[in-house]
Amino acid sequence: MEVILLIAILACFLICVSSFRTRRKRLSPAPYPPTPPGHFLLGNLRDIQHKTLRYHYDELAKTYGEIFHISALGQHIIVLNTEEAAYELFTRRSAIYSDRPQFAMVDLMGWDINFGFMKYGERWRAHRRLFQQVMNPQTVSKFRHVQAEKIQEYLRRLLDDPENFSEHVERLLGSLVMKIVYNHEMGEHGKDAQFDATLVATQNLSSAILPGTWLVNSFPILGNLPGWLPGCQFQAFAKRTREIVDSIIEDPYEKAKNTISSDPCLVMILENSIAAGGHKNIKESYPKEICAVAFTVTSETSSTVIEAFYVAMRQNPDIQDKAYREIMSVVGSERLPGLSDRAALPYVEALYREVFRWMPPVPFSLPHSSTADDIYKGYFIPKGSIILGNGWTMMNNEEKYTKPRQFMPERFLTSEGRYNGGDIDSIIGFGFGRRICAGRHFADTTIWLLFACILATLRIAKPEDGVLDELDKLDSIDDAFVHALVAHSIAFRCSIKPRSLDSVEVIRQISE
Ligand code: HEM
Repeated sequence: MEVILLIAILACFLICVSSFRTRRKRLSPAPYPPTPPGHFLLGNLRDIQHKTLRYHYDELAKTYGEIFHISALGQHIIVLNTEEAAYELFTRRSAIYSDRPQFAMVDLMGWDINFGFMKYGERWRAHRRLFQQVMNPQTVSKFRHVQAEKIQEYLRRLLDDPENFSEHVERLLGSLVMKIVYNHEMGEHGKDAQFDATLVATQNLSSAILPGTWLVNSFPILGNLPGWLPGCQFQAFAKRTREIVDSIIEDPYEKAKNTISSDPCLVMILENSIAAGGHKNIKESYPKEICAVAFTVTSETSSTVIEAFYVAMRQNPDIQDKAYREIMSVVGSERLPGLSDRAALPYVEALYREVFRWMPPVPFSLPHSSTADDIYKGYFIPKGSIILGNGWTMMNNEEKYTKPRQFMPERFLTSEGRYNGGDIDSIIGFGFGRRICAGRHFADTTIWLLFACILATLRIAKPEDGVLDELDKLDSIDDAFVHALVAHSIAFRCSIKPRSLDSVEVIRQISE
């Protein structure tokens, strides 16, 4: 009975919101951007809930051009399909396109401390400024030895247990972040309370923003209802998560602060700079909060790029061999490549860039939202619209990337073999404007080094037992990646073998 009442209240609310929006539409000073036909009541809900969203939006982009509009339940969504449109709105007009849509479940879980989800304003600005202070290229370079050490540890795990290559990635990213943030050496899987709590909190955060999972995201008013009401079990889940989130903010930070070590870590860098009077207007909780979000923002996105690398290498042995030959000619077989070799390895650089282009890890970036009415090329973009940068379509622009669905590192090289792909701020996979990924310098160096070290020592191939896996059964390899906010791959198998006896030696020598 209560559920029916709840639905009835929601329906009324929905109709009120829709009619209010419709009234706004009548008052709009210009037409909305091209809009695909929708249902008279549900609008473009079908487009929004499409099962193969990146293909569907790509089709819509082909039909409607650089910008299109869809709307449902009173919410306007604007999709930008060219780099030019994204630059104009997210960068040149960043003052009004840098907000985030709000997810009530994120707040209920206590994850509103994550500035990736904060509204554009003073609190976000203070968090981002602090984060950039510890994640700028100069500070990140202090962590090179940790990146190298953890990657070597990962290679050793691959040698010993190649079948579980993807589980080892979770450990690699976890141990790396725990070390650089808190100077915490991670224990074995399932036995490290700090990491395990962070992992659960991160997984729950991912579920908080999964479209269609939580009604409270569409109707935040439900967040005020008591948990004992039927249909309000989300309150208990949110409360449990909030307790975990609270614990990962406070305890690890205090522990790191009170541990004396000569290794630099984010906590110590922040504490020193606060003590030196570097930050006047921040609350005491801010440094703790930015440290607590580091793993959340690292794991999902980075692991997707690594999955894309494995799939691309498995499918393209010649490309892999070419990168290996380049590394051998520059670095040789007696040591692992390092970040100081990067400029001398243009093919590896181009391959790295092609992974981001071929399978953008967050195909529509994180949604932005607008804080004022605006007009773009004669089209009306109402305040409060969700704005998506359609990275998938931008990265498949045939005028810029010939045969875009082919994995082809050469597209980022000149005819003389020099890298011409631009710096990391031109990687669409890191997002747009003022909200561009704040950890991109750390992500970039970690992932480049990981790819270079794998290419130097190991060969990834299809499984040798002849048993077909899910990837072999696909019509298109593009379908190996799910259509979600973050495009993870489906499960697949690889054969991973050392290139030579030298490779084994170099991995074992350094790791042990
Ligand atoms: C390859 C790995 C990564 C990818 C592809 C990636 C991608 C992204 C994207 C697409 C966004 C949203 C940008 C936008 O709204 O336009 C973002 C935001 C963010 N990323 Fe990353 N990211 C990666 C790794 C990392 C790492 C390692 C860190 C931290 C150590 C990090 C920290 C953040 C933060 C804090 C934000 C929120 C920025 C804000 O809202 O102001 N990311 N990232």
